[in-house]
Amino acid sequence: MKDGCSPQGQCGACTVLVDGAARVSCVTPARRVAGRQVTTLAGLDPLRRQAWAEAFCATGASQCGFCTPGIILRLEGLARRSPGAGPAGALAAHLCRCTGWQTILEAARLVTGESGAAAQPPRDYAAAARRAALEGGCPQAVGPHVACGEGGFADDTAPADALVAVPAPGGGWALGETPAEARRAAGSVEGRRSTLRAEAPLRVPPGDWDCTLRTCWSEPGYLELDASWCLPGGEPADPLANGGALGAKTRSAAAAAARRLADETGRAVRILYSRPDATRLGPKRPPVAGGANADGTGRLAVARTPGVVEAIAAVAPGLEVVEVDVAGPPTSADIRAAGALEALALLAGARGAAGPIRLPGGGEAAAQVAEKITVEVSCGRPLDEVVLRSYCIGAAHMAYSLVTSEAIATDADGTVVDLTVRSFGVVPAARTPPVEVTIVPSDAEPTNGSDSVFVAVAAATWLARGCLPVWPTDRRS
Ligand code: FES
Ligand code: FES
Repeated sequence: MKDGCSPQGQCGACTVLVDGAARVSCVTPARRVAGRQVTTLAGLDPLRRQAWAEAFCATGASQCGFCTPGIILRLEGLARRSPGAGPAGALAAHLCRCTGWQTILEAARLVTGESGAAAQPPRDYAAAARRAALEGGCPQAVGPHVACGEGGFADDTAPADALVAVPAPGGGWALGETPAEARRAAGSVEGRRSTLRAEAPLRVPPGDWDCTLRTCWSEPGYLELDASWCLPGGEPADPLANGGALGAKTRSAAAAAARRLADETGRAVRILYSRPDATRLGPKRPPVAGGANADGTGRLAVARTPGVVEAIAAVAPGLEVVEVDVAGPPTSADIRAAGALEALALLAGARGAAGPIRLPGGGEAAAQVAEKITVEVSCGRPLDEVVLRSYCIGAAHMAYSLVTSEAIATDADGTVVDLTVRSFGVVPAARTPPVEVTIVPSDAEPTNGSDSVFVAVAAATWLARGCLPVWPTDRRS
């Protein structure tokens, strides 16, 4: 069982079955389930658990795997209680940040027999893991065990007697014997969704532009919260776990803090962020505001972020980039295609055509967005088509969601005030267009393909929305 937002009850990671019905356990008091049967994924009938795990693996429905145990139990509860019901609506209670939903729906159809249980071709999981590492940017396991939540998450192996440390307001760490005690010591208040409107913080540089774009603060929203633990004198558990959140966790403070506090206290120390902690302190994509012309020239203002000017210059040399100091949460150029995506989308808008995208060191992708999202990707030997397709679908969803829906509000000081999972604006399964992926056969050396897909789908989505001048295009509150 996982914790992605407790006690918000909004991510679904902690879902269990209570007398066969799915319930989020973090908001279910123990007294309400007294005398009733509570089943976690580990307690599911082994053959049924294996069927779900193999189906998720066969369709690529589990990448990091943090969300998957809860989703499997939700779908199992649906299959038991409402066998004919479509699974997309049931997923509204969940957040999966990796997969883009479609492969999860395919896995559900495999298990319920709706799509016919075709024999699965043999897989080379080492090759699949290599493809996953290329796409995710850090080591990643692939196999049915990942769908069971066994991807190697730091907090799953923390010693039971470890001191718990949580971020304290104003910096530093608050300690306690339990998460509740540490959070009390920190004076933590459960985060809410604010009534403030999400705003694009930068202004478009003056000029006569064919096309302009401004973006808001948006939350990467990785599901496994920052966590680590360490024994005195030991090596801290890796907060990147199974995938690294596509760059968003690259500089997590959790591991260094676990090591330092363990050495200082002489005890095992477990670092644990809450969802509001990760939302306030975690890095965001640098917001931009820019104008461009059809000839590829233009000016782009971007929130000051080490490395972002270079990232933009590498893909859009005709854009003059101006870094701007802006009050707001931390930003990072490590986040998937940060700056490059926005620059290339702006140029596509100015040209009035998306065109193929090739990011430095990566493959090539082209995309069209209408009733469905169509993607073609060429990135060397696929190594494992299931994994590559899964990453391309996840990237397509992430791009579509970023352009149309994702934004968080900040107050006048730039402090993030939208602190709940539901306030991030991630497009749910029921509103995600189908994604069709064509993988171009190649014998070339494998390289990352899904980052180019991410950019290509963002540009195509924006063009399909008429290049409205502010992202997200569909959500202004
Ligand atoms: S941890 Fe319970 S719903 Fe997120
Ligand atoms: S696989 Fe769903 S959050 Fe990573």
